[in-house]
Amino acid sequence: MKLILLGPPGAGKGTQAQFICERYAIPQISTGDMLRNAIAAATPLGQRVQAIMRAGKLVDDATVVQLVKERIAEPDCGNGFLFDGFPRTVPQAEAVLEAGIAIDHVLEIRVPDELILERLSGRRVHEASGRIYHVVYDPPKQPGVDDETGEPLVQRNDDQEDTVRDRLRIYQDQTRPLIGFYQKLTGSKSVQYSIVDGSNPVDDVQKEIAQALG
Ligand code: AP5
Repeated sequence: MKLILLGPPGAGKGTQAQFICERYAIPQISTGDMLRNAIAAATPLGQRVQAIMRAGKLVDDATVVQLVKERIAEPDCGNGFLFDGFPRTVPQAEAVLEAGIAIDHVLEIRVPDELILERLSGRRVHEASGRIYHVVYDPPKQPGVDDETGEPLVQRNDDQEDTVRDRLRIYQDQTRPLIGFYQKLTGSKSVQYSIVDGSNPVDDVQKEIAQALG
């Protein structure tokens, strides 16, 4: 199963990715997590993209496409994978097609902009694992610490209000066109396209996704 999760920042892609990957035993390929890991490890890539990500801008297509190509060549991707946050632009989606990667299903999570600021300002993450919480909607058992490791949770530095507004603008300009791109493909290739309502509670969104995936 090769899946793409599409949706604006804060739609719940990372939250639902955790459930989908467990259910279908496929790895989550989050370009955001991969880039954040490179920053944390201070690799040359991390040093190059740090300021771009802090500002909420997109990393260049060639860098991201190369990162993904290397990742999906790893053995754990043999049964498929879930792309979370990739592709993000039409050139990235074209690169997927050109590489002959046959996507089975595109799942679009729709959430109105007014919910997104509230979600991202309350988001807390466990950096090492990528586990995601929300102070109100999905709180950890103990405030401020990860349920599994007891380590502290942090706020992402691109979750500041102004940066989130910029990320939403970039989503509208550069990522939203992928909706039309993939809807067109459903006619000519065996790609399924489903839309789920991401404004519902996490468990309800999960059920809707399970239904869409069959
Ligand atoms: P990335 O890490 O991909 O961020 P994003 O796409 O902006 O998405 P988010 O992670 O912010 O949101 P999400 O949809 O995963 O929501 P979540 O589940 O956490 O990218 C970050 C940066 O990396 C980019 O800005 C760019 O610089 C770079 N980058 C990455 N990929 C790139 C690419 N392909 N090309 C170029 N650059 C790239 O949920 C959010 C909050 O809401 C959480 O607190 C959660 O608990 C809560 N929540 C989730 N679902 C619900 C619900 N149903 N009800 C209530 N609360 C909920």
